[in-house]
Amino acid sequence: MRKKLLVLSILFGFVSLLVFRFTIFSPSNVEANKFLFSATYSEQAGYEQFVKQLPPQKWDELNWESPFYMENGGLPRVIRNCDAYIDVNDLLVKQEAPEEELHEGSSGVQQEARKKIALTFDDGPNRTSTVQILEILEKYDVKATFFVIGQNVEKYPDIVKAAADQGHEIASHSWSHKNLTKLNNAQLHAEIDQASTAIFNAIGQYPTSYRPPYGAMNDQVRNEITLNPILWNIDTLDWQHKSPAKTLASVKAHAKDGGVILMHDIHQQSADAVEAVIQYLLEENYELVTTGELYK
Ligand code: NI
Repeated sequence: MRKKLLVLSILFGFVSLLVFRFTIFSPSNVEANKFLFSATYSEQAGYEQFVKQLPPQKWDELNWESPFYMENGGLPRVIRNCDAYIDVNDLLVKQEAPEEELHEGSSGVQQEARKKIALTFDDGPNRTSTVQILEILEKYDVKATFFVIGQNVEKYPDIVKAAADQGHEIASHSWSHKNLTKLNNAQLHAEIDQASTAIFNAIGQYPTSYRPPYGAMNDQVRNEITLNPILWNIDTLDWQHKSPAKTLASVKAHAKDGGVILMHDIHQQSADAVEAVIQYLLEENYELVTTGELYK
């Protein structure tokens, strides 16, 4: 009789757990595979689903100490304050990490699925920061694209050659960094052709793509220039804030598959950011490619 009771109570416990897991903590639009079945996670799910979706003016009316009710008639949960929420979030990141490592550990198939991102450096080269960046790129065996200014190429052809020899793409950023939309056709061609010649003299190859200074383009520029125009979709604003930490934060916030990151190799602070940026992208399983590779 005792044994029967024991078995029954274990069975009851098990069934209760299942009910608890599948009904009470199953808000309809939370991805099942992200669900960790813990009270802390349900608090986060509740926060994500309901609190964040409210208009900001509603937030003030919310009393963070009051019970928070899950959808599907779930148990009341208390979200104590925002700080507690952030702790929970950190906890979840740590809990999810091993699963990601497993994915990275698998072979061939996973390699193909690697996200691609292009690091691009404008306005160089110079004798100091460009050279440092090349050393870091070599250390991590990753490729980048340098949008060089023709005048600088003429000053430092050996650096451009070294970059090309390392497998980086050398692209044009015009001869003297003029706003191309403000030029007549003759001036426009002079800006592009002089730069292309300087690049050819340095590396024995003409560039196939260019980035207009300031990203400034119009129909005239598009029609007249036969090189591929390459802009960017992740602007680190490194030239403006000159802070390696902000450059890294910007990459962390915006990195995506197919991303083209804009940096400038002529600033020391940009060179100082490069190693951490590369480390972050590799940790996130990005393959760093040239823009030619990205858009081929
Ligand atoms: Ni520029």
